[in-house]
Amino acid sequence: MARHLITSAIPYINGIKHLGNLVGSQLPADLFARYQRGRGHEVLFLCATDEHGTPAELAAAKAGKPVADYCAEMHEVQAKIAEGFCLSFDHFGRSSSQQNQLLTQHFAGVLAERGLIREVSETQMYSPTDGRYLPDRYIEGTCPNCGFDSARGDQCDNCTKQLDPVDLINPHSTISGATDLEMRETKHLYLRQSAMKDELEAWIDGKTDWPVLTTSIAKKWLNDGDGLQDRGITRDLDWGVPVKKGDADWPGMEGKVFYVWFDAPIEYIACSQEWVDAGKGADWERWWRTDKGADDVTYTQFMGKDNVPFHTLSFPATILGSGEPWKLVDYIKSFNYLNYEGGQFSTSRGRGVFMDQALEVLPSDYWRWWLLSHAPESSDSEFTWENFQTSVNKDLADVLGNFVSRVTKFCRSKFGEVVPEGGSYGPAEEALIAEIDRRLAAYTAHMEAMEVRKSAQELRALWVAGNEYLQSAAPWAAFKEDPAQAAAIVRLSLNLIRLYAVISAPFIPDAADTLFDALKVEDRSWPTSAAEALAALPEGHAFTVPENLFRKITDEEREDWQTRFAGIRS
Ligand code: MF3
Ligand code: ZN
Repeated sequence: MARHLITSAIPYINGIKHLGNLVGSQLPADLFARYQRGRGHEVLFLCATDEHGTPAELAAAKAGKPVADYCAEMHEVQAKIAEGFCLSFDHFGRSSSQQNQLLTQHFAGVLAERGLIREVSETQMYSPTDGRYLPDRYIEGTCPNCGFDSARGDQCDNCTKQLDPVDLINPHSTISGATDLEMRETKHLYLRQSAMKDELEAWIDGKTDWPVLTTSIAKKWLNDGDGLQDRGITRDLDWGVPVKKGDADWPGMEGKVFYVWFDAPIEYIACSQEWVDAGKGADWERWWRTDKGADDVTYTQFMGKDNVPFHTLSFPATILGSGEPWKLVDYIKSFNYLNYEGGQFSTSRGRGVFMDQALEVLPSDYWRWWLLSHAPESSDSEFTWENFQTSVNKDLADVLGNFVSRVTKFCRSKFGEVVPEGGSYGPAEEALIAEIDRRLAAYTAHMEAMEVRKSAQELRALWVAGNEYLQSAAPWAAFKEDPAQAAAIVRLSLNLIRLYAVISAPFIPDAADTLFDALKVEDRSWPTSAAEALAALPEGHAFTVPENLFRKITDEEREDWQTRFAGIRS
């Protein structure tokens, strides 16, 4: 039994994620976790909310809530929605946890000891009225370029010019409105990534099996401009992990917190501690410490392409720089973007379909199937309601759902709700078994390689093979001449349904559960040979006809949803 550690990029706490976020990390990670569990391997699948940073503070202020309360509430909301999508995390943690705070401070302390952190003096806007330094986003003023009167400290939203807070005319604090801002000298910490360039490059060069999307982004950042830049890892915010050197104070760093991107990936590790502390696991070190058995672990990360630099360079710099025996990622699966009806999904502008809205419209299997079978792997892909309707109606309702319904209902009417006895398999059955065997091997290989679209295609082909067989074997016709022959056809078809339940479960877990219940089977182990798998349900085995698995989306519904989601979410 192999051991698989699987993490999905942890979603920001502010707001509910859209379908593009979902298909770029959490959903394919879940597919892989379910597949590896199905193969009988030991899996630890972790995700969490990414709770620090300015966006969290701003969202809380907008909601009129203390940021800690806001995060606690939004964590619950996101956890519930994740459950709705059947995301099978072993733990859904929080980057604001005590565990992550301590671990982040630990890493900073070790990195400092090893000379990998330098202190830099900078001048920054200070607001005496607010009693704090103001991050760029907390300062607004008139744009020197276009005269727009609420340009932000980092950029003017009107003319898009990149700005420095000092450029603004009549700058004021967005917290208090105070205008008595002054430039003050303050210290910040920088992670000396540049000192680790060779080590990082050698590590990435060794990853010859990684997707091109992942390595090309990593190499671009490694070599762009002057090469790998040192990175500021502290911020002047109230909300975040307080800057400390291990458990000791850090002189000059009072009132500062670590930058959100420093503590967020450390949460992957801390999350496993939260998992243990929640009583769900016994030992996190055997997943994360190579001196405690984690050498046997295969660690796979899932993320959108914008996250790749942080996972190929910054986080590994933290891990490698520590000189401690932490498990490094073995494989990074990254994704392009999903677009929405000719434009982009946008959280800030509320454009597209968000996870909560999706579940209000249809159950999660419909979304899981469409999203995974259209995953933006080799290029960006696009969600359209028409395409969604077509895929759902064809693949799920006409192909899989229809097969299940025809076979089980025909059996019930002619033989009762048991696997019928008698008859034997002829050339048509042998040919089908051979085809299933071949396709099963291809499907398994694609799943193993995390080729999401190819896996979906092959799974659909497996469903189609059953349908075509049923259509040409025509048990309803055979029954009139030779009931034993019809019995053999139905027996093989019922076994196909069981096989479909097993192998479709990573994509559409609810439908799979319905089938397992209806067929009254417990064994969900991954098939190795079609002949064996298609003999699992013996003659005389009782079952019940399942509820209709999938319904069709009508044109009327599609048009209705098209209009309903055309606008901007308020
Ligand atoms: N919150 C980030 C995003 O949604 C992802 C953070 S991943 C981690 O883009 F590595 F920081 F954990
Ligand atoms: Zn401007």
